[in-house]
Amino acid sequence: MSRTQWIQTKKLEIYATVVSDDCIRITYTPAGVKPQKPTIGVVLQSAAHDLKMGKSHKLSKSAENLKVSFENTPWSMTWDQVTGQLWVFKEDQLVSLDQPLQTGEPQLRYHRLGAVGLYGLGEKYNWMNRIESKTENWNTDVIGISPLHHGLLNTYHTSIPFHVSLHQDFVLGRFFDNSYRTAFDLDAQKENFFSFSADGGQIDSYIMCADSVKEVVRTYGKITGTMPMPRLDYLGYQQCRWSYMDQDEVVQVARQMRQHDIPLDVIYLDIDYMEDFKVFTTDPKRFSNVSTMTQTLGNMGVKTVAIVDPGVKVEKGYSVYDEALEQGYLVTTPEGKPYVGKVWPGDSAFPDFMRREVRDWWGAQHDFLLNQGIDGIWNDMNEPADMSTEDKTIPKDCIHLDDEGAAHTHQEIHNLYGNYEAMSTYKALKVKTNKRPFVLTRAAYAGAQRHAALWMGDNSSLWEHLESSIPMMVNMGISGYSFIGADIGGFLDNSNGELLVRWTQLGAFMPLFRNHSSKDTLMQEPWQFGDAVLNDVRAAIKTRYQLITYLYQCMRESHVHGDPVIRPLFYVSKDPETFNIQDQFFFGDALMICPVYRPGQKRRMVYLPEGKWHHFYSGQVYEGKQWLIVEAPITEIPVFVKEGTILPLDPARSFIQGPSKTLEISIYGGDSGEVSLYFDDGMSFEFENGICSEMTIGYRVVEEQVQVSVYSEGPYPVPEIKIVLKGSLAGKMVSIES
Ligand code: GLC
Repeated sequence: MSRTQWIQTKKLEIYATVVSDDCIRITYTPAGVKPQKPTIGVVLQSAAHDLKMGKSHKLSKSAENLKVSFENTPWSMTWDQVTGQLWVFKEDQLVSLDQPLQTGEPQLRYHRLGAVGLYGLGEKYNWMNRIESKTENWNTDVIGISPLHHGLLNTYHTSIPFHVSLHQDFVLGRFFDNSYRTAFDLDAQKENFFSFSADGGQIDSYIMCADSVKEVVRTYGKITGTMPMPRLDYLGYQQCRWSYMDQDEVVQVARQMRQHDIPLDVIYLDIDYMEDFKVFTTDPKRFSNVSTMTQTLGNMGVKTVAIVDPGVKVEKGYSVYDEALEQGYLVTTPEGKPYVGKVWPGDSAFPDFMRREVRDWWGAQHDFLLNQGIDGIWNDMNEPADMSTEDKTIPKDCIHLDDEGAAHTHQEIHNLYGNYEAMSTYKALKVKTNKRPFVLTRAAYAGAQRHAALWMGDNSSLWEHLESSIPMMVNMGISGYSFIGADIGGFLDNSNGELLVRWTQLGAFMPLFRNHSSKDTLMQEPWQFGDAVLNDVRAAIKTRYQLITYLYQCMRESHVHGDPVIRPLFYVSKDPETFNIQDQFFFGDALMICPVYRPGQKRRMVYLPEGKWHHFYSGQVYEGKQWLIVEAPITEIPVFVKEGTILPLDPARSFIQGPSKTLEISIYGGDSGEVSLYFDDGMSFEFENGICSEMTIGYRVVEEQVQVSVYSEGPYPVPEIKIVLKGSLAGKMVSIES
């Protein structure tokens, strides 16, 4: 879409587009320079029109107060034609100047507008509320740079230059679609200004405004896309290790899970399944019969995921390398020679995923694994990691080519590399298997949620890392990422029984539920720390399996609307008490989770927001808008259900094969309510042809009776349900109309 320029000054041109009612896109370019195309992070192409001179546009239907115009009414944003500055007024008072520096460098200073909280910014090891701090975006192999000291790191595996800020009367979102190394100063000096700067490219910003964080995040979802419908069985428990060293060990681990009555859906093959770490090979001795292994696992209901790193071993005679070299598919030096760095196989070259042709070629390589029964793919080291350089990635002046053959520096493409690889993998799996692909990625830029689940990199078996995974997940949720999780038990360093129990209890409420540990550390499967630990870990995993249908509904909301599964307490409410609470979170909109993140801790302080709350395990009902101390024995963490919730609970099973045949529907107090439950096969794309169903369950309390109505629509079989009344409803008569 060509864009008409809106304002021109001697040094600067500004393009302004109305993206939707609640979002405008503003691009600043040096005079005479056309605006760049959006990165692959952006999907939204439609419904946009250029902002006309002299016309105003209200930025939000609900917040009457923000609009882009040339007027000076309460809360208006006005552009100064001479300087190109965006001025923001409240009533007659000038409160902000958006100041693009006019040197041609992509830098922008914008007013804080009284923001009290700022969230999002992708994956960061830091406080949830990032106001008055600074950060940078450059996908980084953390372990290579600073093991165990993540707090000192400004950059992480994933970069999402999007933030959401809370203001007195409204919520603002700002997304800067710039894939270069970028930096935010979020008013670190307390001068009432934020700033954004980039090492290259342009300022291409999307400004969103609404009444709630939820609406802003949904708008961001329209711009960068939402997650695809996930496979239902991948919501189950996943077991990983660097590495299970041979095919017998992999099968043995799965068998032990079954012997110990631990539900398990997925097991992983880390790098040692390959021959000399060469991608798309298997070790001829230790993994001599992968097909038989995957079949044996499959018979137990266990799916196998294999790791695929982008680094291709430089070795003549190795077909993947030979083909890539011959076809010119590799990232090159500025002189045009394939760049050679170092990853697990030693000297390695890197596919240039920027080109469709290369992505398709790489995708086709996966047939080798898929033909042997591998079901999902784990994309690691895709920052990309390169152990041969000081900053642990390939040099910025390396060259990528786009589909038209134009050259782009690695400096521009670096943060997009993970997205491009995930695109390739997702498509390959979809085309080959016709099942919903499971792709797991470590590195990502905005929009990668469309192709891959994400785990938050190499953490350590430290209580602090359990704790920090909470704000990290919350901010990833606000950044549009739902299918996320942290390595349960901790990756580096030795875990211990209590840590594993507490982390698994938190993990039961992380969308990606994966236990993973590093080489040379204690094994950390559920039975490794004795019977007491085994029992508590098993109980936590079983709780998760009760919530599969509920989680699937949350994932669907994420797919349809872009709502995150992990949400901060202030997601919908405006209770200032919650703006800095980062050790509790919502799992969907019905459950509030309060993890335990200190050793020896047997009770904890929790904040209950407005309303009534039912303790998930004890059933006790509490009034909201208060702080209180609740018990947190080693057997459980405090979980609260919002009054009025209609919660589906699955019966126990050891792995997932389609939706449960029966569901217990718990109604937690209140006078009336309604929920819509969605069902499909959880596996194929048949839902796109209407092979799915929706069951609507409503209830009303009339005198001493609870009248429940159940209606289903659609061809997919729905489960039988049993109604269970909780709290004030317990003991009342039920009548069911269907
Ligand atoms: C990286 C990954 C880790 C994996 C290891 C070996 O450190 O982050 O999860 O186990 O590489 O492949």
